[in-house]
Amino acid sequence: MKLILLGPPGAGKGTQAERIAERYSIAHISTGDMLRAEIKAETPLGVEAKSLIDRGELVPDEIIIGMVKNRIGMPDCENGFLLDGFPRTIAQAESLMGFTGIDRAVCIEVPDESIVGRMSKRRVCPNCKRTYTVDVLEPDEDGGYTCLDCGTKLIARDDDRPETVQHRLNVYAEQTFPLIDFFEARELLSRVDGDKSMDEVADSIFELFE
Ligand code: AP5
Ligand code: MG
Repeated sequence: MKLILLGPPGAGKGTQAERIAERYSIAHISTGDMLRAEIKAETPLGVEAKSLIDRGELVPDEIIIGMVKNRIGMPDCENGFLLDGFPRTIAQAESLMGFTGIDRAVCIEVPDESIVGRMSKRRVCPNCKRTYTVDVLEPDEDGGYTCLDCGTKLIARDDDRPETVQHRLNVYAEQTFPLIDFFEARELLSRVDGDKSMDEVADSIFELFE
């Protein structure tokens, strides 16, 4: 199974991608996570990507396309893969369709008002990468939060500041939203309402395949 998850920043792509990848035993490929790993390792690509990501801009197509093409060729993708955060531009989508087939593109639709609230409540574990919403956590004595899996202090993503989130939404509207028409024209698009609980969204996605 070769899938794409589309949707604005904070739509719940990463949250749902983990569930889908586990259920169908396919590789979860998040370009955002791959870039954040490069930043953490302080590679030349990571240094270049950091300033763009922190400003809410996209990383250049040629870098991302090469990264994904290489990743899809790895052995754990033989049973299929789920792309989370790629493609994000028409150029990326055209390139992708040139090097692999795609079975379905699922767009998780969430209104901007819900997204701004969600991002302000997102915390991530810098060690094991688990993502949380503070709604499910008890605050520590200092008002911060701790990872339930590995005990590391959670952090907010640098690009989750409200002004950066707004810019990311604008970039999404300009550069990524046109992909909905792109995949619809190829009869590959399914839409799900992402403005529901995480379990309800997961159920709507699984229904598409069952
Ligand atoms: P990336 O990491 O892909 O960020 P994004 O697309 O902006 O999306 P997010 O990861 O912020 O949100 P999500 O949809 O995964 O939501 P999540 O599940 O975490 O990319 C980051 C940057 O890297 C880009 O801005 C760009 O610079 C660069 N980049 C990456 N790919 C690129 C590409 N292809 N080309 C160029 N540049 C690229 O959920 C969000 C929060 O909401 C969490 O706290 C979660 O717990 C909560 N939540 C999830 N679902 C629900 C629900 N149903 N109800 C309530 N809360 C929920
Ligand atoms: Mg994500």
